[in-house]
Amino acid sequence: MRVRTAQTGAGVPGRRQVPGVRVDVFVQPGDARRALRAEALQGLCGMPKELSPKWLYDERGSQLFDDITRLPEYYPTRREREILLAHAGDIARLSGADTLMELGSGTSEKTRLLLDAMLEAGQLSRFVPFDVSEAFLRRAAADLAREYPGIGVHAVVGDFDHHLCQLPSGGRRLVAFLGGTIGNFKPAQRALFLRELSAGLKPGDGLLLGTDLIKDRARLFAAYNDRAGVTANFNRNVLSVLNRELGADFQPEGFVHHAPFDESNAWIEMQLISRRAQTVWLGGLKRRVDFAEGEVLRTEVSCKFRRAQVEAELSAAGLDLAAWWTDSAGDFALSLALRR
Ligand code: SAH
Ligand code: AVI
Repeated sequence: MRVRTAQTGAGVPGRRQVPGVRVDVFVQPGDARRALRAEALQGLCGMPKELSPKWLYDERGSQLFDDITRLPEYYPTRREREILLAHAGDIARLSGADTLMELGSGTSEKTRLLLDAMLEAGQLSRFVPFDVSEAFLRRAAADLAREYPGIGVHAVVGDFDHHLCQLPSGGRRLVAFLGGTIGNFKPAQRALFLRELSAGLKPGDGLLLGTDLIKDRARLFAAYNDRAGVTANFNRNVLSVLNRELGADFQPEGFVHHAPFDESNAWIEMQLISRRAQTVWLGGLKRRVDFAEGEVLRTEVSCKFRRAQVEAELSAAGLDLAAWWTDSAGDFALSLALRR
């Protein structure tokens, strides 16, 4: 795959140069479109219908997720921030890291707490945000470089499924995977992800992992079915992505957002339910897709965890739990694990 490396944004027409930012691009727009075509053929034409959650995060979707983090019902972001506020200093000390890498970094808003603690400990030289959403990542990286002028910011536009091996090496590294995004993998995919990530680390490198915990069903349901309908817009936005990228003619208002908790899998399942029998034309694929009334398109799972499970899954990947912290309500957990 061709890689575009832009030191300080050079070579990217129309972009303002930002000193101290390097951006490596492993996901070109053409690659993403080809991957979406292949996935849509399988995921929309098969039964049951399903898409990977990564397609939720075009620029509008990334912005909608950011809006979700401020909803009264959506507790994970606030709870994780509370843990970081209490323990960022411990994380800096226990990891001993000089390089912070963040997977699925988004705006890296909470991550500033970690950057501050590592700076205060006098040990931070580099920050590596990694995300599939290029425009959002570029903006976040530029903001961070301005706010933290003393460190190198090396952004990587990559996909967890293909580019974990492209994370830069060197130094003592701490990989942060926050927000509970690990829960958006199903169990088999999660095990593969953890093994691949761990294989790229050196003994003593760390993983800081955010996981949402199993709790009262009503609160879980409310967090993914908010009253203001922001999560519904986030979910339906994937249909606009399909319309734009695949020349499809989905009518987003023809689908209802629903996100029930599946007890047997311990995951929230984000669904789009067809309001009526309808046919959608995927122009770019020259395919029609039929939806029955009430038929479900699954767009995301969000797994919820208990400590023993997290510890066992980390250990199976060669990562030993060094610390486990929860917020005061016990809603969310941060684990620090070190590569064996
Ligand atoms: N870490 C932030 C954002 C979480 S939202 C927080 O805690 O609030 C999930 C992030 O993962 C989004 O920024 C999205 O663009 C990114 N993402 C989703 N699927 C991805 C994939 N396959 N590869 C890389 N990034 C991905
Ligand atoms: C990014 N991820 C952890 C969020 C979650 O809670 O699973 C995505 C999200 N989906 C709906 N609301 C938020």
